[in-house]
Amino acid sequence: MSDSDEEELFTSRSTSAQNWTPRKVILLTGLAAIGGFLFGYDTGVVSGAFILVRRDMSLSDTWQEVLVSGTLVSAFLTALTTGTIADKFGRRPTILLGSFNFAIGSLVMAVASGKEILLVGRLLVGVGVGLASTTVPLYIGETSTPSLRGALVTLNTLAIVFGQLVASVLCGVLVDIEEGWRYMLGLALVPAVIQLIGFFFMPESPRFLVRQGKYTEAQEVLISIRNPYHQIQEEFEDIKVDCSRESGSLSMLGFLKSLPVDSIARKALFLGCLLQFCQQLAGINTVMYYAASIIKMAGASNQMAVWFSAVTAAINFLFTILGLKLVHIMTRRRLLFVSMCCVIVSLLIISTSFLYMGDIKMPNQTLGLSIANESLANDFIEEASTDDTSVTGPVLILVSLSLYLISFAPGLGPLPWTINSEIHPGYCRAQAQSLSTSSNWLGNLLVSFTFLR
Ligand code: BGC
Repeated sequence: MSDSDEEELFTSRSTSAQNWTPRKVILLTGLAAIGGFLFGYDTGVVSGAFILVRRDMSLSDTWQEVLVSGTLVSAFLTALTTGTIADKFGRRPTILLGSFNFAIGSLVMAVASGKEILLVGRLLVGVGVGLASTTVPLYIGETSTPSLRGALVTLNTLAIVFGQLVASVLCGVLVDIEEGWRYMLGLALVPAVIQLIGFFFMPESPRFLVRQGKYTEAQEVLISIRNPYHQIQEEFEDIKVDCSRESGSLSMLGFLKSLPVDSIARKALFLGCLLQFCQQLAGINTVMYYAASIIKMAGASNQMAVWFSAVTAAINFLFTILGLKLVHIMTRRRLLFVSMCCVIVSLLIISTSFLYMGDIKMPNQTLGLSIANESLANDFIEEASTDDTSVTGPVLILVSLSLYLISFAPGLGPLPWTINSEIHPGYCRAQAQSLSTSSNWLGNLLVSFTFLR
């Protein structure tokens, strides 16, 4: 081997050693991302589970509406206050509180004897979703190095879509089982307990510790989550400088008051909220919550609709994996731009295929969320005849929905979360992410309520 070959080998070995990721970072990211999984599972399970709940509990439209949207409203309200909780008590206890809510909420739903109890469970799960959707990206962002942050926060989005995928497959499997909804809603207890136990052993975010003045503890955590080649002292000093603007915890009011004088925080907040809101306006949850109903309306049988919607969830999952790769190769700006352009084109294709298919029967109800489930519920209850089912319509819709997901999943799906974990100044990151996550839930609520009206 020549000298230059040896030198090259040495350089590439030492570069890969420097880029080596400690096992603890992978473990803590994985455990934190269970929060994303539960977020995806508990929102994704709705369309399947409530078909059965409606039948077994003879729910009125209003009750179904309250039960379905209860989780979204409670997630929105919780996300608004999560920044303050995470700043006061720490990221780790906030995630633990989230998993506790997921666990208790799932248990309550699984054993619910009536709709009122079910509502308590749905609200508790909503609190879990609000806490997890704000704190998990924040925690992962603060514990990872800048070079890994994009990929690791995207991993959380992958966990969200994996949760949605698991939920849709389980709904397909459990739909014919007596009181299958109890299993669908209660099974989230298992990952919630795993996270609850696992997170007791995970460290607090070093940034939070520095803000609390716990410098030695922060350094110890940094040592445990960085590889031996990392400039720990340098990172520690950077965090200190960054946190020096604000000691202790920053209230939401304090943050809002600081905005007129801090143009960077102001612009970052505007961008973060806009991205999250636009992500929802692009209609992802219309697809995730109503895919089965849309396909059903296009002429599919019940079983075909449920399984086709699982296919859409699988496509979303697979193309989010592509996002993990692309976030390394392309700039955030370019990836987002390409993804948004493709989303616009695919939405046009979806509308054109609806037009082409002519008069798709829209159920004549008043509330968006109950309409879709109502239509499916009635079909399941009455075992409607499948004589008029066709394959062309559902396949056309499935293809156009898939194009939409292929466009959305690698870019517009994960990037609002990733970018939000990167752009806010350190001193107000928790509060800013709290607001941007709330705008995601607000957009989600708006779209969910207006679809099909
Ligand atoms: C969530 C989004 C998330 C997306 C991933 C949706 O259900 O509302 O915030 O990025 O799933 O596909």
